[in-house]
Amino acid sequence: MTREIRAPQFREVLHALRVWDSPLPGFDTGDAPGEPLALFREWFVHAAAAGQPEPHAMSLATVDGEGRPDVRVLLLHDADERGWHFASHATSAKGAQLAGRPQAALGFYWPSVGRQVRVRGSVTACGAEESRADLAVRSRGALAAALTGRQSEVLGSVEELARASAAAWERAGAEPQAPAPTWTRYVLDPVEVEFFQGDAARRHVRLRYRRRANGSWVRELLWP
Ligand SMILES: Cc1cc2nc3c(=O)[nH]c(=O)nc-3n(C[C@H](O)[C@H](O)[C@H](O)COP(=O)(O)O)c2cc1C
Repeated sequence: MTREIRAPQFREVLHALRVWDSPLPGFDTGDAPGEPLALFREWFVHAAAAGQPEPHAMSLATVDGEGRPDVRVLLLHDADERGWHFASHATSAKGAQLAGRPQAALGFYWPSVGRQVRVRGSVTACGAEESRADLAVRSRGALAAALTGRQSEVLGSVEELARASAAAWERAGAEPQAPAPTWTRYVLDPVEVEFFQGDAARRHVRLRYRRRANGSWVRELLWP
């Protein structure tokens, strides 16, 4: 049974928490590259090397048909000249939101190094071949999850999921090329990327890249 935590105990725990109170790296914006992908890759590898757990877990924000924002965590599948790649079911809530309004934002937070990266842009769904290839390089569990499908639908019972998932794991083992038609790779083409370095004295360093119409990038510092 869930143990009830009353408001005073909750607040005591909440207010005892600290942020940016361990030694953090610096961020010399004068040294920053002319475009954001190179800096993202550098910061990502640095965060992983610093022991940041799951630095590839990112928030994906989308907007529904009524303009209401939504957000959830996804895994980053790549970052290259086309943009930031991720994958999900086209039939999920986020898939429907992206089909209706193909704009999104990504958020990474790497507390081990006090860094945050935000990315905004338009999202394109890749074709069937690329979406299939996305699964081909991943684990049996990833294929099983994709085969289970029905993501974001209301689930009748945990037993129903257990049966569908067991069947999907079996099929993923027996048929590694099994088609998962709703599984879709997406690419977010960035127009804005912000790098934030936290600082104990709250003199956080924020560097935003904004893409001009000609494809070149403007770099600007932001007040923290
Ligand atoms: C660490 C982590 C990684 C996840 N990775 C993915 C992913 O790559 N793709 C995906 O569809 N869901 C992933 N999920 C589940 C999503 O957060 C979410 O529950 C699911 O996609 C349904 O979202 P929706 O109802 O907004 O469409 C992940 C969850 C966590 C906590």
